[in-house]
Order: sequence, then C-alpha cells, then structure tokens
Amino acid sequence: MTTRTRRGTPGARPRPVTRAVQPLTRRVFAQLADGEFHSGEALARALGVSRSAVWKAVGSLKALGAPLEAVRNRGYRLPGATAALAADRIRDALPRAVRSHVSHVEVEWTLDSTNSRLLARPNPPAGTSEILVAEVQTSGRGRRGRQWLAPPGGSICLSFSWTFREVPQELGALGLVIGVCALRALAGLGVAQLGLKWPNDLLAGGRKLGGVLIELRAESAGPACVVIGIGLNVALGAEVRGAIAATGIAATDLICAGLRSPDRNAIIAAVVGECLAGLQGFEREGLKPFIEHWRAADALAGKPVAVSGAQGTAQGIARGIDLHGALLLETREGVRRFISGDVSVRPEVTR
Ligand code: BTN
Repeated sequence: MTTRTRRGTPGARPRPVTRAVQPLTRRVFAQLADGEFHSGEALARALGVSRSAVWKAVGSLKALGAPLEAVRNRGYRLPGATAALAADRIRDALPRAVRSHVSHVEVEWTLDSTNSRLLARPNPPAGTSEILVAEVQTSGRGRRGRQWLAPPGGSICLSFSWTFREVPQELGALGLVIGVCALRALAGLGVAQLGLKWPNDLLAGGRKLGGVLIELRAESAGPACVVIGIGLNVALGAEVRGAIAATGIAATDLICAGLRSPDRNAIIAAVVGECLAGLQGFEREGLKPFIEHWRAADALAGKPVAVSGAQGTAQGIARGIDLHGALLLETREGVRRFISGDVSVRPEVTR
C-alpha cells in the first residue's frame, strides 16, 4: 500500500490516497504496531485469513528483521513498537514554517532504496522538497557502497530531495550541515549524549545511531538537486544489532538513547523540519552558521584515528574540521586535510 499526500490548494487538508490491496505482512505489521500482544487467532479473525497465513506473515516479518516477540499463550508483539508510518501524520507534524516547502510526502511499505527512488524522479522546483519514507528497504544503501540494515518498525528510512537555486560553493560540506540539523531535532526529542563522527555518522553515547547519505542528481547543467538520505535506528532488535556488529559497527538506537516518545512520524517531521530550515540557511551562508555546533558535537576530536580516503590511508590525531568541513589530521609529517574518507578510531597506545 502507498499513502501519499500532495500539496493542494493552500489551506486545504492533504488527502491520503490509499490503494485497497495490502500485502498480509503489512496488515499483520499494522495490527502489531500498537506494541500489545495479539494471539495468532485474534490476528486471523481481525484480518479475515487463516492462522497459518498469519503464521507465514509473522515469519516474513521476522525474516525482514522486525524485532518480534512470540510468547506462548499470549501471541506476538512488537516491543517498543511505534505507530505505523503515515504520510498525513508526517505532514501534519511538520513545523509550520517549512510546510510550504514540502511538495509531496509519501510512505511506502517496501521498495529498494528511498534514495534510489528519489534520484530517479525529476527535480522538485527550487526551494521545495519531496519526502519519501519506507518501512522496508530491500537494497538500503549506506556510504561507500555499504548495505544499510534497518528492521521494519524499529528504524527510519527517510529521503528527501532539495533543489538549490544556485549550486552552493560548499556543497561538499552539506553532510555536516545535515548532521547538525538531525542532532538539533533529536536533542529536542530528548535524545542524550549525541555526537557526530566525521563525515556523516550520528552517534549517541559513542555508538552509531544513524547515518546520512547525500547524492547529487547527475545533470551537467541546470539547478543542483540533492537527495538526502537519513537512516535512524529507533528500536533495533537483538538480531539486527548483531548483524550490524558483525560489520564492525557498534550501534545503538533512539529508545536506548532517551527518546521521549517513539512516534516515528513525529521524529521524521522534526528531522525534516530542522533540515529544510538548515538547507535554507546553508543556501544563504554556507557552512558558517553550523560549524560551531558541529565542532561541539565532534566525537573524534583529539582521538588517535586512521583515515582512509582518496588520498590513501593515514594515521594521526583528529583535530576537528576546517572552515570548509575538511577533517584535519595531525600526523608525524604535519597536518593533513581530508575532504572525504572513512575514519576509524585506533586503540590508545599506553606507554
Ligand atoms: C551511512 O552509511 O551511515 C549512511 C546510511 C544512510 C541510510 C539511508 S536509509 C534512507 C536512505 N536510503 C538509502 O538507501 N540509504 C539512505
């Protein structure tokens, strides 16, 4: 099923467009989205299907990584589950000041990648944004060609596009701006111990909470349109947390980090709201208004790190970012600048 809202006449309430047929997996998921226990029998009755069909759908949800609990004599539940994603609820929760900049909000149950989908669409008019959210991504993409793992119900897979009136000089630093904006939104929702790891990781308590993937729509001329993808861990189940750990990343989620209310529609609206306001600030003034906040949240500053980038790999002490957003690395040969790359923290050498 797809729910969409499109901006209509000013002041008119956006009308959700709902396709009638939904996969059973999604319908079971919607029943469980209240976080309560539902027996297989009750689910079968509510959905007008057999118990074995429910059982199969529950199996599919588990295979997708949904943090489902099954308890004998009680049934199934999604612990820490958050309300189902809904385009109209996202739009209604957007801060008033940015609502007029949003031309379209869309929620999909499953697709390959929200970033890939938006990249394939035409540019929205300058100064406006299209928002696309999916419960399940079959080919979710992280930075540097990595896979992005996100359990249904326990994560946010969000992309939005933005067309700049003019190509910003510091476009390469946009990921840092989005990181600051996402942090501002999350801090407002009660999330504690937030940090940023250059270039685009969002952290809580030093663990990865989310990431940002920015892609430029390839066009040789005309306005620059970027697709900004944000993945956020909301409530990772043990399985997905383990699968992420196996890739060498220590992950955490918003629930563990103090999120006050696990309403994902409100979280998306808050993050998009800050980011759209931030994009307008970035268009006017570049990285400057964000740099102090970025430096204050810098989780790498002063740490021994290894940086691998296009210029090769180097080791040294992370010394923050310069005015253009490049990472500064103090090495034996002097300070080196990295404009892209991957950073890993090296264990402290004790003498
Ligand atoms: C990272 O590697 O840290 C960046 C992760 C970005 C994941 C998000 S989820 C929504 C959007 N769609 C994708 O395929 N990737 C981004």
